[in-house]
Amino acid sequence: MILHKFKNQADLDRAAADLIISAVRAKPNAVLGMATGGTPVGLYQEIVKSYQQGLVSFKEAKTFNLDEYVGLPITHPESYRAFMQRNLFDHIDIRAENTHVPNGNAADIDGEGRRYDEMLYQQGPVDLQLLGIGHNGHIGFNEPDSHLSRFTHKVTLKAETREANKRFFNSLDEVPTHAITMGMGSILHAKAILLVVKGMEKAEILDRTLNGPITTEIPASLLQTHPRVIVMTDCDVEYKVSHS
Ligand code: GLP
Repeated sequence: MILHKFKNQADLDRAAADLIISAVRAKPNAVLGMATGGTPVGLYQEIVKSYQQGLVSFKEAKTFNLDEYVGLPITHPESYRAFMQRNLFDHIDIRAENTHVPNGNAADIDGEGRRYDEMLYQQGPVDLQLLGIGHNGHIGFNEPDSHLSRFTHKVTLKAETREANKRFFNSLDEVPTHAITMGMGSILHAKAILLVVKGMEKAEILDRTLNGPITTEIPASLLQTHPRVIVMTDCDVEYKVSHS
């Protein structure tokens, strides 16, 4: 793990955007793993700025999003497809057919998971996977559990996750109860991972992610097993390189 700490979120957003832009400039047909939530909004804005300045093109790039709500129409502004269009895809030159978000409205969600994994397998591996983190240590929508799935699958959202995401909806009742998410296998299969963590309220879960035991009860702690993880944060945390 490499930990980069920033004094403010604007610098963090710029650095995270620059890392993604560098990956695409080095490999124009890069496969990018994309994330949603409040965390990446600022860095997507920075990517759009650089695109508008002619510093990067996404014409050959492909994207795979981590997850999507189940049963929320993609026309709903809080669907992750709508989020990605609004925050990134509509403002850059990526080809629509090269952007992939799991279909949370598929009649057969298990079949949709298999279809998504097949595409990832055929077009991947992901060169750079962007991740945020939930307060309980979830990544994508892989919630804490006694075991975690390797493949793209349907999950029941934890009460605390629905509570955290309530801010994007009119009420808790409107927050979907289920989602479809890339599994831990697909996430850990990425060649490199960029974990972005913002806000002091996430300092404790980030510390446990970096320094605590590797446990399925904190899915993000499995990132300790990956050889190329870059963490960018404004949290006051350390990455301990030894027991003492
Ligand atoms: C959401 C997403 C995650 C995201 C996390 C944190 O539910 N499924 O991909 O990283 O929760 O979101 P935020 O950045 O809004 O705190």
